[in-house]
Amino acid sequence: MERGDAVVISDVTAGYGRRTVLRGLSARLPLSGVTAVVGPNGSGKSTLLGVLAGTVRPLGGTVDLGGAGRPGYVAQRDAVSNALPITVRETVAMGRWALRGPWRRLTAHDRAIVEECMAALDVAPLAARRLSTLSGGQRQRVLLAQGLAQEPGLLLLDEPTTGLDLRAEQHISAVLDLQKTRGVTVVHATHDLTAARRADHCLLLDEGRLIAEGPPASVLTPRTMDQVFTRLEHARP
Ligand SMILES: Nc1ncnc2c1ncn2[C@@H]1O[C@H](COP(=O)(O)OP(=O)(O)OP(=O)(O)O)[C@@H](O)[C@H]1O
Ligand SMILES: [Mg+2]
Repeated sequence: MERGDAVVISDVTAGYGRRTVLRGLSARLPLSGVTAVVGPNGSGKSTLLGVLAGTVRPLGGTVDLGGAGRPGYVAQRDAVSNALPITVRETVAMGRWALRGPWRRLTAHDRAIVEECMAALDVAPLAARRLSTLSGGQRQRVLLAQGLAQEPGLLLLDEPTTGLDLRAEQHISAVLDLQKTRGVTVVHATHDLTAARRADHCLLLDEGRLIAEGPPASVLTPRTMDQVFTRLEHARP
């Protein structure tokens, strides 16, 4: 990758209060490509997405979005409150409010984009349903529709396919591929190694450090997987 064709993360340290999570992390994520972020629970995947989204401020180091465009973040499904009494359409519309500011009325153009994004994720028939009454897989598709409604140049997805059946997972993969062909830079955190292997680029994290970076086939090797995931087995009493 040449300069100017990547999101460049340089020596980033970040955390919450006194807890340091990411420790001197450097990586290059291809523009208009799909990057998968893999690692055990607590390794810092969501924190890294937060840094890219601008919601977690690095304590040190820099992030250069390299012309990727505006970030749009789709939260891990269980990080979204079930108690909000909002409908599917309102949830997706929040993606437009994120651009316009909450007190502006949405334009006809905004509303058209909301309908388009619901159709792309096959949730238009659920538009009037409350988010809290949906199944997990349906909610996940609604959240992705909300992310697309922001028309981000850098689409950040936290475990978009966790807990989904094969069909829903393939649907989401196809949507991500389409975004990529439209020039969007996609970064997703995932525990799904099949999905990770389909990405253009892969980061493997462990305890907030980068263990390996590059094409998935060279990152997700038996050796690195053993190094990162099997240690957890050893930790058991
Ligand atoms: N808001 C927060 N305040 C304090 N600590 C946090 C916060 N969010 C995450 N952490 C801590 O930061 C570390 C990394 O968490 P993070 O959510 O980035 O991991 P992850 O790789 O996304 O894990 P998972 O696979 O479980 O989603 C964990 O030790 C976690 O407890
Ligand atoms: Mg996470």
